[in-house]
Amino acid sequence: MAQKEDKLKDIISHAKEYGFIFPSSEIYDGLSATYDYGQIGSELKNNIKSYWWKSMVQIHENIVGIDSAIFMHPNIWKASGHTDAFNDPLIDNKDSKKRYRADILIEDHIEKIHKKINKEILKGKKRFGDNFNETKFKQTNPNIIRHLSAINAVENRMKKNLEENNLEEIYNLIVDLEISCPISGSKNWTEVRQFNLMFSTEMGSVEGESAKIYLRPETAQGIFVNFSNVQKTGRMKIPFGIAQIGKAFRNEIIARQFIFRMREFEQMEMQFFIPPGEEKKWYKYWKEERIKWHYKLGLGEENYRFHDHIKLAHYADNACDIEFKFPMGFKELEGIHSRTDFDLKQHEKFSGKKLQYFDPKLNQNYVPYVIETSIGLDRLFLAILSSSLKTEKLNDGSNRILLSLPPALSPYKAAIMPLTRKDGLPEKAKRIFNELKFKFNCIYDEKDSPGKRYRRQDAIGTPHSIMIDHQTLEDESVTIRNRDTMLQERVQIKCIEEIITKYSMAELLK
Ligand code: GAP
Repeated sequence: MAQKEDKLKDIISHAKEYGFIFPSSEIYDGLSATYDYGQIGSELKNNIKSYWWKSMVQIHENIVGIDSAIFMHPNIWKASGHTDAFNDPLIDNKDSKKRYRADILIEDHIEKIHKKINKEILKGKKRFGDNFNETKFKQTNPNIIRHLSAINAVENRMKKNLEENNLEEIYNLIVDLEISCPISGSKNWTEVRQFNLMFSTEMGSVEGESAKIYLRPETAQGIFVNFSNVQKTGRMKIPFGIAQIGKAFRNEIIARQFIFRMREFEQMEMQFFIPPGEEKKWYKYWKEERIKWHYKLGLGEENYRFHDHIKLAHYADNACDIEFKFPMGFKELEGIHSRTDFDLKQHEKFSGKKLQYFDPKLNQNYVPYVIETSIGLDRLFLAILSSSLKTEKLNDGSNRILLSLPPALSPYKAAIMPLTRKDGLPEKAKRIFNELKFKFNCIYDEKDSPGKRYRRQDAIGTPHSIMIDHQTLEDESVTIRNRDTMLQERVQIKCIEEIITKYSMAELLK
């Protein structure tokens, strides 16, 4: 536990020290669960956005992108169910005064039982060596059978009571499982209450209920209400998708763990409109597509897993998360939801406007079904940052901090450095920089010793550092240092562009 917290602390302090992420309103002592992206962080964030956007919109002929307003008509949230049902069950510990989501306390308890099962499996592997058959072992080991049946019982009880909104029974479940507060260790809990997560504000100068509007808690509704606009003006044929990147706001009960859970965050969502009856096929398709997309980032396939939802959101008939191994353990990174025709039908009902599609193949009108892929941009940022940050022990005994970002996402593709600040080297280096900056995002650095400058670039993930020295003036050659191998190679200036392109602009999209 302490190790996990240390790892997250290291990431937070690295993010601040190198200009990736600052606490918001810091000079006023900060504002809880809000963060600002700094000069390096914004570059990384933009590159992540662009990678997602290109792989959705540019690569798929049948997916287009929009940018809808954050403020929307308040009836949208009545129609979507958010006004009534976008709640989390909260519970307070009376001793630590800490507030928790009751369902997450129970899910953490289930996760502990999973860990016990994994321990049994490891023991089995050791005992049986090459003859170990995991499936058979799970079916026959009495401890595992007992643990699995405990998980099943807890999941069923939680699902039933959350669906029935039976908060008293959720409280009883926490008591029966003897769940204690991770901070105080006590089991002195308040009752469980529902808490709506939407932020509201007033529109215009007249205060009152009629002027009350909400900050969107998901970008998806901006897509649904524009379904017909996009379909007609874009002459889109089903199946087709609408993608969007934008801010979303939630008054989270527990907003901790850095940028993992914030009150203001960004989502990258895509709604894929399909004929009714094809939802199972497309749900499977998008699950496979999205996990392949993640694997291509190269953060390690072992760091991902699927988690099927126990309790489905009010709009879904099937849903799962792609979980990532964050420093705090496996947690939700992306959601894939089969949203049926719920949203479009609700908007038809509340707006009185038809949101249907005439299918020329079937010669009939229908309200399309929807498969949604929804990923938190900030969570993806944290996944990339946390899995890339490493401390390496070098041969000379010193440590180097390395941010081994996927090169295509690195804030800068190359750092251009003159060896010294005299003899015309800065002028030559500037000329090279001024050429390359039109091709890639580059940084010019002439301060401190070369060693220190290399370390600075390693720490922000710059894949190549180009050193201009006296020999450059004689034969137009430079040394180019690779961030990952630390190897330096002497190359002609005219070859730099090709080397960087090959390494850093690698086709993540293919
Ligand atoms: N439109 C569906 C939807 O919003 P969700 O599972 O509530 O589904 C989708 O959210 C994604 O948004 C999550 O998988 C997560 O990556 C991100 N997300 C949700 N709440 C967040 C928060 N408070 N802070 C940061 N990211 C969040």
